[in-house]
Amino acid sequence: RKGKTPEEVVKKYLQKVKSPPEEDCTICMEPLGGPSGYKGPGVGPVSRAESVGRLAQCGHQYHFQCLVAMYNNGNKDGSLQCPTCKTIYGVKTGNQPAGKMEYHIIPHSLPGHSDCKTIRIIYNIPPGIQGPEHPNPGKPFTARGFPRHCYLPDSEKGRKVLRLLLVAWDRRLIFSVGTSNTTGESDTVIWNEVHHKTEFGSNLTGHGFPDPGHLDNVLEELRAQGITEDDGLTE
Ligand code: APR
Ligand code: ZN
Repeated sequence: RKGKTPEEVVKKYLQKVKSPPEEDCTICMEPLGGPSGYKGPGVGPVSRAESVGRLAQCGHQYHFQCLVAMYNNGNKDGSLQCPTCKTIYGVKTGNQPAGKMEYHIIPHSLPGHSDCKTIRIIYNIPPGIQGPEHPNPGKPFTARGFPRHCYLPDSEKGRKVLRLLLVAWDRRLIFSVGTSNTTGESDTVIWNEVHHKTEFGSNLTGHGFPDPGHLDNVLEELRAQGITEDDGLTE
């Protein structure tokens, strides 16, 4: 993936559109039949023939330059996500800071999972300095509440979730840097879009057990990050 220009990455996921529909590009809100409304640095003229593209899998259409601008605004990892339906092209990665993920089995059962033991995941991320992929590059970020302990039932489905969480960790998708909803603190390590259970025997925060839908919810949240059962087998 390294070495591909943003234009090349975007092109890879697009099909040609001969005559654009009479609709607006939902990135820039300008008609697809006209030029892109995006006038940022590095946006050069494109020929009319390639000014609109259709994303190959979901079919949503945008100005080519609008997609390139969107790609340049992200972490430029070679993947693209349709802003309309969230279909992921390529392998999505995040901006989780460096740290450690460990897990082990503890010989106790979670409320609602009396038939099995428990997997405890321990995430540890130290504070540091934000990189170019973070909201304020060069500025420090804090890391509160680490190590963070999380729990899964040691059942077949729980182990499947663990396998996919390991993939999510490698793709830097478990945590992010931003503003905490809970504390209001900015420039700090926060949970990304995948929910974790951080209470073992109680449910004071709502992030505890029992919660019958939890594992299915997490599988759905992982899917939204582009991580499916197939990933757990190959990585
Ligand atoms: N346990 C698990 N998930 C949580 C918790 C928690 N205690 N608090 C919030 N979340 C979920 C939220 O539901 C939301 O989906 O994390 C997501 C992001 O919420 P933020 O408050 O922005 O995240 P963060 O600041 O990382 O979480 C704050 O979580 O583990 C604890 O020690 C941590 O008390 C801190 C809290
Ligand atoms: Zn546009």
